[in-house]
Amino acid sequence: MSIEPRVLFWYKVWSKNERESTVSGQPEAMRKLLISDFLQMKQEGRKITMITAYSYPQALIVDEAGIDIILVGDSLGMVELGYRDTIPVTMEEMLAHTKPVVRAVKRAHVVGDLPFMSYNISMEQAVTNAGVLYKDGGADSVKLEGGQEMAGTVAAIVKAGIPVFGHIGLTPQTASLLGGFKVQGKSIDQARKVFDDAVALEEAGAFALILEAIPRELAALITERVRIPTVGIGAGMQCDGQVLVLHDMVGLFRRFTPKFVKVYADVYTPQLEAVKAYIADVQGRRFPTDEHSFTMKKEAVQELRKALGL
Ligand code: KIV
Repeated sequence: MSIEPRVLFWYKVWSKNERESTVSGQPEAMRKLLISDFLQMKQEGRKITMITAYSYPQALIVDEAGIDIILVGDSLGMVELGYRDTIPVTMEEMLAHTKPVVRAVKRAHVVGDLPFMSYNISMEQAVTNAGVLYKDGGADSVKLEGGQEMAGTVAAIVKAGIPVFGHIGLTPQTASLLGGFKVQGKSIDQARKVFDDAVALEEAGAFALILEAIPRELAALITERVRIPTVGIGAGMQCDGQVLVLHDMVGLFRRFTPKFVKVYADVYTPQLEAVKAYIADVQGRRFPTDEHSFTMKKEAVQELRKALGL
């Protein structure tokens, strides 16, 4: 099957299913976003915004802000669970963090990330675990890392009825095979490979692609070539959308900050100062005051003392 009919086929299936659901007819700003909205945004040149979130309060904030896509990323392992990298993250952890995000969200599309070794052993394993995040977790789609070598797996998950977000370029789960956390696609051969990865995933039925840490010129060529949206992280401004890790852009993860991150706020310092002030208040007997206390009537206290023999 050639590329175009396959993409158009999935576009039509999803558009039809989604449009026939209860949200159809409502303006985008007021309803849950659909996969067909992202394809339309690409066609109309409207940028897609995406960010990670891993908890109920984080998801409430980013959804209220108007983000289009929330990724419950396996970056969870580093920014929330304190692992060195994403390798140790388990399906149980991903599921536990996907559920509260899904409960919080009204508008954004929620992507559940398949962790390392949850889809690499067999297609059956991949479809089963995609089903766990989609069915039990309530995610609207799943993401997995890899290019041409994962095309069969992507096709199998899509065939099972689960939308798949691809992820190519720098793929952190297999970074050691790529020579570490390095920009990918700088040589002609490497660039050709990343380009072919994009085409293969589109052909396999992925509905969107993350392009991580590749030259912006290569990202622009891929974005022009594929009909599905590209979402960049360290891939320049010509992608159809952008994604960042929430903790990176609000200054909550301080171990390192990649070059492609723009830091919009420092929410670490105010929280640190707040906790220090609380400690000082408790130690200095300035908290709690009457304002934060409950009281009993004087007579009731006397009666209680008597009853307790005090
Ligand atoms: O897990 C994650 O947060 C990701 C983003 C870096 C795209 O995969």
